[in-house]
Amino acid sequence: MNPKYEAAFKPFTFRSGVEIKNRITMAPMTNTAAHENGEVSDKEVAYYQERAGGVGAVITACTYVTRNGKGFPGEFGADSDSLIPSLRRVATAIQEKGSKAILQFFHGGRICPPEELLDRQPIAPSAVAAERDDAVVPREMTADEIDEIIKAFGEATRRAIEAGYDGVEIHGANTYLIQQFFSPHSNRRTDKWGGTLEKRISFPLAVVDAVKKAVSDHATKPFIIGYRLSPEERENPGITMEETLQLVDKLADQELDYLHISVGGFWNGSIRDDNDQTSRVVMIHERVGDRVPVMGVGMLRTPDEVMKAFETGVPLIALGRELIMEPQWVQKVQAGEEDKIRTTLSKKDQKELAISDKMWEYYTGIPGWLPIV
Ligand SMILES: Cc1cc2nc3c(=O)[nH]c(=O)nc-3n(C[C@H](O)[C@H](O)[C@H](O)COP(=O)(O)O)c2cc1C
Repeated sequence: MNPKYEAAFKPFTFRSGVEIKNRITMAPMTNTAAHENGEVSDKEVAYYQERAGGVGAVITACTYVTRNGKGFPGEFGADSDSLIPSLRRVATAIQEKGSKAILQFFHGGRICPPEELLDRQPIAPSAVAAERDDAVVPREMTADEIDEIIKAFGEATRRAIEAGYDGVEIHGANTYLIQQFFSPHSNRRTDKWGGTLEKRISFPLAVVDAVKKAVSDHATKPFIIGYRLSPEERENPGITMEETLQLVDKLADQELDYLHISVGGFWNGSIRDDNDQTSRVVMIHERVGDRVPVMGVGMLRTPDEVMKAFETGVPLIALGRELIMEPQWVQKVQAGEEDKIRTTLSKKDQKELAISDKMWEYYTGIPGWLPIV
């Protein structure tokens, strides 16, 4: 390996005590390949197997904690004990290759496509539709429903532990339910869950508490708890960076293993203000200091780009689309074969990359998502 890349391949020990062999992780990526009943498919397991081994940890696609939070077709579920064997298949596939397995889970809230829900009715903090084409007006959640979903995050954590995962990532990003509670756009509640910034933070913190309690009740070995967030929203009202810095201050006090900053590009500035072009990842890293490690992500393809991101002091980097295109990224860097790393996606490589037809259709269906040649 070229010595200039060595720093990325030093082991990293999380606060919980779990050690990963290097500082590069696979970002969570939905692949829409699970069965209708929430079980993973053989093709999905093969996809993880192909990408595990090099990276320190693989973070799975998001999985729903309750059936009414299913956000995508072909998403695998964590909402029932009957799905523990399915969850275990993914964890084992990743761990057998030598990476730690982190289960990402969420509830889609108002973003759930109605056709994926049994009653066709998305729920959310308030009856306010997202500002996007075809968005439906969700039903406002009752206080009991809120309590049930918080509990469901705890239950999904227990299932992840029973299925053998090394950790979980709470998906509080990308406009889904946890973010919807934090957002002044989607949360117009006047009870204890909405109103002031402090009250909008109370749902994310209640989820963190439920997950921590499940870990303390059920884990028999160190277990990672990560939290993913999106720093800003474009809408007005919408989440601003000032609000996010207050959220991360609270999260930094929760003894989490890492904060994962979900942005389109590691170096991207504000999506609300073109004049503010400081990297959101770096801003959050500087704000939390050594209170909690930050995981950065976004548009990092080559080892030189990854090293430049590490130079900011951010201790962990996740690779998303790059690992779709190049599952052997880490192995190639370690073998000094960085010139052989693919940074585009070609139909002729589909089989070798363990990308099923369904995944191919999904990945390539959104213009500009992947550089297809
Ligand atoms: C196909 C695809 C599926 C994704 N699914 C998820 C997901 O399930 N959960 C999540 O938090 N982010 C998801 N993301 C966002 C990625 O984790 C990542 O933040 C984003 O792609 C930017 O990183 P990259 O440029 O390295 O791909 C997805 C992105 C892609 C391209």
